[in-house]
Amino acid sequence: MRAIQIARTGGPEVMELAEVETPSPGPGQALVRHHAIGLNFIDTYQRSGLYPMKLPATLGNEAAGVVEAVGEGVDAVAIGDRVSYASLPGAYAEANLVSAERLVKLPDAISFETAAAITLKGLTAEYLVQRIWPLEKGDTVLVHAAAGGVGSLLTQWLDHLGIRVIGVVGTEAKAEMVRKQGCAEVIVRDQGDLVEQVRRFTQGLGVKVVYDSVGKATLEASLKSLARRGLLVSYGNASGPPAPVAPLQLSQNGSLYLTRPTLNDFLVTPQERRDAADALFGVVMSGAVTVEIGQTWPLADVRSAHEALEAGHTTGASVLTI
Ligand SMILES: NC(=O)c1ccc[n+]([C@@H]2O[C@H](COP(=O)([O-])OP(=O)(O)OC[C@H]3O[C@@H](n4cnc5c(N)ncnc54)[C@H](OP(=O)(O)O)[C@@H]3O)[C@@H](O)[C@H]2O)c1
Repeated sequence: MRAIQIARTGGPEVMELAEVETPSPGPGQALVRHHAIGLNFIDTYQRSGLYPMKLPATLGNEAAGVVEAVGEGVDAVAIGDRVSYASLPGAYAEANLVSAERLVKLPDAISFETAAAITLKGLTAEYLVQRIWPLEKGDTVLVHAAAGGVGSLLTQWLDHLGIRVIGVVGTEAKAEMVRKQGCAEVIVRDQGDLVEQVRRFTQGLGVKVVYDSVGKATLEASLKSLARRGLLVSYGNASGPPAPVAPLQLSQNGSLYLTRPTLNDFLVTPQERRDAADALFGVVMSGAVTVEIGQTWPLADVRSAHEALEAGHTTGASVLTI
């Protein structure tokens, strides 16, 4: 089968199309034949070496397809099931061997492309919305990269629950998009002072939660945008890893909370994954959250996909086709 592998870390050029043996499932494993593959910013961190991997490695963390074979003792899925998965290595390939209990079964109404676009990004949005902090109707929050893969799902889901979202985006075109997604206010980054604009939109109070996936470039402004006893959720590094935060900075900015969460610490058990997937597919199938697949590339053209994602040229989710 074809797979995108790296033998060393670096820019998009380190990714090579390789012909590899299709593996056979061992106990507890399933072989999934991919129909669509999700592109995620984490793939770029693994390629660049920010998140270390044992090399050589097949990149990719998310895909959707059909179970083609199962190993001994597998009863969570059967041959022929339509499934997807998130946060498992080896997704940039025509098929992948995964732990069967990590698979999510797809409702008929969810296409492979949609599943590849939302399993990792949407389960992330689910824990950010439902598990990390108890928000109430009418609370105001700040979402960075609101037009991005996670950001567009997160924004719509928060809006659906009656949370007032201030979205931050890179361009006027993205500002237009997130207004339609339900952002009550939009800030175009690098146009004016972010903290001042947040304070103006909140009568000087600041926001209850900041969801910051940009990292290095935004963390300090994020801290200063919070209300007293607000929460900074630093969940990504699109501009590079943020500088360390001293505990005193938290007290000086209003007795703040800071967390740095990852998906695999929020969805640990099969039941937690099933509940989160049910909630995610529920909001998508009800129409409360619309899935925007902004762009697709053939798997073989993954270098162009990484270049576009890292340059901030994508909107919504990106999918690799087989
Ligand atoms: N912790 C977790 O559990 C978890 C899980 C999934 C994803 N994540 C994180 O969530 C974030 C979003 O992931 P995604 O796959 O959906 O990507 P994405 O948001 O679609 O793409 C990243 C966006 O970040 C913005 N950005 C701002 N400054 C940037 C810079 N210097 N370089 C590049 N982009 C910049 C760009 O939007 P604008 O042009 O609008 O600024 C860009 O489109 C990533 O940081 C990822 O690591 C975390």
